[in-house]
Amino acid sequence: MKIPFLDVSYANRALKEEILEGWSTILDSGQFVGGDAVRNCEEAMATAFGTKHFALVSSGTDALRFILLSLGLGPGDEVITVPNTFIATTEAISQCGATPVFVDIDPTTYTMDPEAISGVLSPRTKGILPVHLYGHPADLDPIRAVTEQHDLWLVEDAAQAHGARYKDKPTGTLGAAAAYSFYPGKNLGACGEAGGVATNDEALDAKVRMYRDHGQARKYNHAMEGYNGRCDTLQASALEVKLAHLDTWQSARSTIAAQYHVLLRDIPGILLPGTAPWATHAWHLYVIQCKERDHVAALLAEAGIATGLHYPIPLHLQEPYDHLDYTGGAFPNTEAMASKLLSLPLYPGLTEDQVSYVAEQVAKTLSTV
Ligand SMILES: Cc1ncc(COP(=O)(O)O)c(C=O)c1O
Repeated sequence: MKIPFLDVSYANRALKEEILEGWSTILDSGQFVGGDAVRNCEEAMATAFGTKHFALVSSGTDALRFILLSLGLGPGDEVITVPNTFIATTEAISQCGATPVFVDIDPTTYTMDPEAISGVLSPRTKGILPVHLYGHPADLDPIRAVTEQHDLWLVEDAAQAHGARYKDKPTGTLGAAAAYSFYPGKNLGACGEAGGVATNDEALDAKVRMYRDHGQARKYNHAMEGYNGRCDTLQASALEVKLAHLDTWQSARSTIAAQYHVLLRDIPGILLPGTAPWATHAWHLYVIQCKERDHVAALLAEAGIATGLHYPIPLHLQEPYDHLDYTGGAFPNTEAMASKLLSLPLYPGLTEDQVSYVAEQVAKTLSTV
C-alpha cells in the first residue's frame, strides 16, 4: 500500500467545480487583485476565526512580518519565541531588525514553556511570540500573565493551528494579533501561497493592510514604505470555498488522530503526542517520538509510507543564528526531541484502512530496531 505524507488534492478534487466557478467569474472580470472576493473571504475568515478583523496577505510569513512591523518592532528589540518551529517565525523577527530570544518547550505539549520566560526577559524585550505547533495550543494564560506584568505584546503564530482552542476560546484571538498560513498543506490551504492576520485591534488591522500594500491606505498616498504582500483574488476565492469545509476536515483529523492513539498506544519504544486538558488540538501533524528515528522512517518508506520531520534541526543550532551564540545543550527538551520526532501521515481523506496499515507498519518496524 502506498501512503503519501500529504494529499492536498483531496479537498481540491471535492471542491473543484465550486472553485472553478469562482475563478471563472474572476477571469471574466479581470479583477485579479483585491475586489469583492478578497473582502468576502476576509469577512468569512473573521467570523470563522473569531476576531473583529481579518486581513488576507500573501503568506503566513508576511502575516507575521506585517504584525511585528505594525507593532513597531525594530532594531535593538528582542522577541521571545521557541527554537522548535519553522524558520518563518524567527525570520519575521530578524527581518524587522530585531533579535529572536529562545526559550525551551514543554516536553508534553511541544510548545513554549511559560516557566522559562522569566529567565530571558530584558529591558529590550518587546513581546512574546508563542507557536501553536502541530496544532496544539501554547499555554497562553501564564504567557499572558508575563506580557501583562511587563507591558509586552503577545502575538500568536497560528500557522499550524486553524481550529485549535485554548480553554474553550479559539486560538488566534488571545493576543494582539495572530498569523495564519494558508500554504497548501495547512489545515486550510490555498491553491498557492496565502496567509492572514487576525486581530481585534482596528488600528493594527489598518496598519497591516498598509504594510501589505506599499504603505498606502489610499492609492498613491504612501504614509510609509510597505511591501507587495497582498493575497491575490484567485486565492481568496478558493479559500472562501474551502473555509466552509474546515470544521468537517477538522473532525476528520481528530478521528484519524484518535485512531492512531488507540492503535499505537501499547507499542513499546514510542511516545505519542499528548493533549493538555485545556487544549483542543487542531491535529495539523501527528508527531510521535521513537528511537532509531531515521532507520524507522527508512523502513516505513520501504513499506510505502511517507513520513515527515518537524523539525530535525532546532533553530538555535541553524546557521543564520550562529551570531546569537547558542550552543548545543541550551534547550534540552527541544534538542532531545529533534532526533526522535517523526510525523505520520494525517489528512482528511486518509482512510481507516490506511491508518491501520501505518500503525501496523510502525509496530512492525519498531519491533526490529
Ligand atoms: C509555525 C509556522 N509559522 C509560519 C509559517 C509561514 O507560513 P507560510 O509558509 O505561509 O509563509 C509556517 C509555514 O510552514 C509555519 O509552520
